[in-house]
Amino acid sequence: MQVHHRLLERDPEFRLRQAELERKIHNRLAAGTSVRQAVTTVPVVVHVVYKTADEKITAAQVKSQIAALNKDYRATNPDKSKVPSVWQGLVTDARVQFALATRNPAGNKTSGILYVRTTQAAFPDDDSVKAPATGGSAGWPSARYLNVWVCSLGDGLLGYAQFPGGPAKTDGIVILNRAFGTTGTATAPFRLGRTGTHEVGHWLNLRHIWGDTEDCSGTDFVADTPNAQHPNYGKPRFPHVSCQNGPNGDMFMNYMDYVDDDAMLMFTAQQVVRMQASLDGPRATIGK
Ligand code: ARG
Ligand code: ZN
Ligand code: CA
Repeated sequence: MQVHHRLLERDPEFRLRQAELERKIHNRLAAGTSVRQAVTTVPVVVHVVYKTADEKITAAQVKSQIAALNKDYRATNPDKSKVPSVWQGLVTDARVQFALATRNPAGNKTSGILYVRTTQAAFPDDDSVKAPATGGSAGWPSARYLNVWVCSLGDGLLGYAQFPGGPAKTDGIVILNRAFGTTGTATAPFRLGRTGTHEVGHWLNLRHIWGDTEDCSGTDFVADTPNAQHPNYGKPRFPHVSCQNGPNGDMFMNYMDYVDDDAMLMFTAQQVVRMQASLDGPRATIGK
């Protein structure tokens, strides 16, 4: 959210495009329809930015992240059975799937995985991993690709993302190598690929479920997620009540909360409307 607010401050056009997108989503919610009914396949390029051998994660680890995204975004993750019965009916297929790019921007064959050496021991949340001049790797055209940078991050950060409508050069998501995928260096409690699921949620314009305030005044602009006071961590026990949202309480098992990977399980119907609205709007060229 720090990255998001910095961009809102600095880039008036991003501010306008975000406002325009919110207006469109509002109409879309009123009409109850999405333009894209088919499943969208998002071409993904993964930039593995490494200094040590450990940080140079394997192709198998990268592929395990893509597989995790595909389960979560099609709601085929078996652990969705752990969603409390009161919310089982809200578990929704986002109609999005992911595939490593098979062609680079020049049209040549690619594995969709780039290995880029750096002298940086760790990156902050300042987009420096996204440019060669600052020790990172340049993104591929964001109109066509989802750029995923995988690196070591400072300050206990698991990842960060850019919302739709921002500058092309920094568009995409950044994920800590040890919280990426389900094998290799991926480490519990962030070893189910759900940092990726969460960050792609932001890339498709989802907000945090508690609305990014600590006093019940914030919102995620999603009607079927209960208003919640603050992020939940770890593996909460159902129900956790806040903001007069009893008896069921916070939907802490949503991908857009901050719980452990094995405790986040679902997107809701209205979250899917928000994501699909960005695929009908600022991300309309993705998967076409
Ligand atoms: N801190 C990150 C963000 O706000 C991601 C949190 C991901 N949580 C997880 N259990 N993997 O974007
Ligand atoms: Zn987040
Ligand atoms: Ca809500």
